[in-house]
Amino acid sequence: MFSSLLTAAILCVGLQVVNVAAQSAAAYCDSTSGICYQGYTDPTINVTIGIILPPLSTGTAPNRTEFIAEIIAPASFGWTGLSVGGTMAESLLFTVWPYNSEVIFGPRWTAGYVQPTPYSGPIITMLKDTKLNSTHIKASFRCQNCTTWEGGSLGSGDLSGFQLIAYVANDDTPVIDPSNVASNFTEHDQMNFFGLDLSTAHSADYDTYWGAQLEYQQCGGTGWTGSTICGYGLTCVYNSAYYSQCLVE
Ligand code: HEM
Repeated sequence: MFSSLLTAAILCVGLQVVNVAAQSAAAYCDSTSGICYQGYTDPTINVTIGIILPPLSTGTAPNRTEFIAEIIAPASFGWTGLSVGGTMAESLLFTVWPYNSEVIFGPRWTAGYVQPTPYSGPIITMLKDTKLNSTHIKASFRCQNCTTWEGGSLGSGDLSGFQLIAYVANDDTPVIDPSNVASNFTEHDQMNFFGLDLSTAHSADYDTYWGAQLEYQQCGGTGWTGSTICGYGLTCVYNSAYYSQCLVE
């Protein structure tokens, strides 16, 4: 009797381990932004996390230190959090919650299991598809200076390695002062993880995702209404009054 209970318990633990390990990121494209991410949608709490990085460096230049990510959660949640280091302590964290019709979003950090505080270092640019409607809140952002942080780094320093991604939420308690990005809040009551193979999370389209033009694309000229910004390593070169083009410097 005891041994069959023990076997059942081991099996249960075993199954849970398999379950966690099996939860891994897959490719998907956000239909609003057109950005194609590696990510995961939690079928139970209806949270989606996506992340995408620029191409790996091919030469001797160091890898770029940025990524684009999105957090989509039910609008009814008090707050939702993302840990790109997979832990609570010494990781790069983000929090998002609604305030009237606004999306309040910012990076956080903590040394332990205590209230994480706003974290300076990341340069955050919110992307256009960030929004709040009656059902969902969505934070879509470019994070520069974000592949390393105090106490850790994405893929433990290998941007084609493995990264455990964690997401948490408090599904019913609003933060104390929702108008303030630095507000305190009560602990999460939801938490889950997925595995991300970073080697699959680099996109040649990365710079277009935050609004830049790629090599040989137009970046200016009379009547040009598109982006005038060129992607990484490119300069907008004047050709004529009617045409400027993104070229390698
Ligand atoms: C008042 C704020 C918070 C408190 C008091 C708190 C407390 C805790 C505690 C006690 C644990 C360990 C126990 C457990 O596994 O349930 C934990 C785990 C965790 N927390 Fe928090 N937390 C807070 C906010 C946050 C935020 C804002 C994030 C991310 C944005 C976060 C991410 C995590 C993660 C990923 C874990 C599991 C992994 C690990 O143990 O490192 N927490 N938290």
